[in-house]
Amino acid sequence: MSEEIIQVPTSSRAYDVICGRGILDTLGERVRPLVKGSTLLIVTDSHVWPLYGERVADSLRNAGFAISIFAFEAGEARKNLQTYATCLEVMAQSGLTRDDAVIALGGGVVGDLAGFAAATYMRGITVVQVPTSLLAMVDSSVGGKTAVDLQGGKNLAGAFLQPALVLEDVETLATLSPALLTDAFGEIIKHGVLAGPALFNAIADHPLTAPLFGAADCAALDFDRMATIVAANVRVKRDVVVIDERESGIRQTLNLGHTIGHAIEAASNYTLGHGACVAAGLAILSRGATALGLTPAPVTRAIARCIDAYGLPTNTTVGAEAIIERLRMDKKRHGSNVNAVIVRFLGEVEVRPMEIGQFAELVRAGIVS
Ligand SMILES: NC(=O)c1ccc[n+]([C@@H]2O[C@H](COP(=O)([O-])OP(=O)(O)OC[C@H]3O[C@@H](n4cnc5c(N)ncnc54)[C@H](O)[C@@H]3O)[C@@H](O)[C@H]2O)c1
Repeated sequence: MSEEIIQVPTSSRAYDVICGRGILDTLGERVRPLVKGSTLLIVTDSHVWPLYGERVADSLRNAGFAISIFAFEAGEARKNLQTYATCLEVMAQSGLTRDDAVIALGGGVVGDLAGFAAATYMRGITVVQVPTSLLAMVDSSVGGKTAVDLQGGKNLAGAFLQPALVLEDVETLATLSPALLTDAFGEIIKHGVLAGPALFNAIADHPLTAPLFGAADCAALDFDRMATIVAANVRVKRDVVVIDERESGIRQTLNLGHTIGHAIEAASNYTLGHGACVAAGLAILSRGATALGLTPAPVTRAIARCIDAYGLPTNTTVGAEAIIERLRMDKKRHGSNVNAVIVRFLGEVEVRPMEIGQFAELVRAGIVS
């Protein structure tokens, strides 16, 4: 067992992200000092519960907790108000008080839904995040954003609630599908670009997904290397969220590649993976920014090479005009401006307000037709 502890001192709460191999069974002893009460609700989904549920429940019971379980059907389609309402009712039926806590065991869907339920039950109770997908480990479990989807759009109802603890056992990634694991590298490559050459090169040299070629699961991953990369990604996200917990300034840099990526994702009717869309968005953005003289060409080439090495897309078949049309509807748009996150160098980005017209020019220049 090996682990790294990353402290996240946000203004609303300071907490640890513990990242390592084979640490899942230590959850109970680590949660015990953080929760005054004696009852916990494990929120999980139908894929993750049979794989890791009993181990997690045993560890928590051994630490003296009474456990209730809410396992809903896996998938983004269930991250909705109905599942959220059921979760709240289960919390009430389980007799959870303000001193008790919710354990979110699963991917980003579970983390977002359980977090939002915890943020609103009795005006807010403790949540502990136990992410089991790569995306949840490097992104969604850290930073305190929680939400469910509405019919009107993704993540439209939500709240900020920093967890009391995040426990990440990279060995749980063994059972993930290689396609999902690979997709998460869209965000990981983005973090590499934000962090600078050391992390970027650690990701780009020898793709971590190479041993998974043709495999049915991720058991062949290099878990030691994976743990190092996951911890480094958590630090990148930590460094941003501790400065800007509520996304009013520097946290916008985490949206690198997302403005174009979201437009591609929506235009594909959400059939393309989020990470793949972010990767394509990042490649298109930096090519376009190079054409406008904002990003050095060698940086753009390095980004595209890295994305390509992970088998993720560097371009899109969605036309520039369709993307631009989507941007006009983007909820993160500010008046007639788009806050474009532009790569100056590896490790240096700039949030640059751009007129929609200028951003459209960048998009047109960035797409290879
Ligand atoms: N809160 C944030 O800051 C934030 C950031 C990024 C994404 N998100 C949200 O995260 C969600 C996507 O997260 P995701 O990609 O983890 O999706 P997910 O939670 O749907 O997980 C993907 C699939 O993998 C399964 N799974 C998870 N862990 C597994 C494991 N160890 N072994 C086998 N199967 C496993 C799940 O059951 C599911 O079928 C979206 O809803 C997105 O909006 C939130």
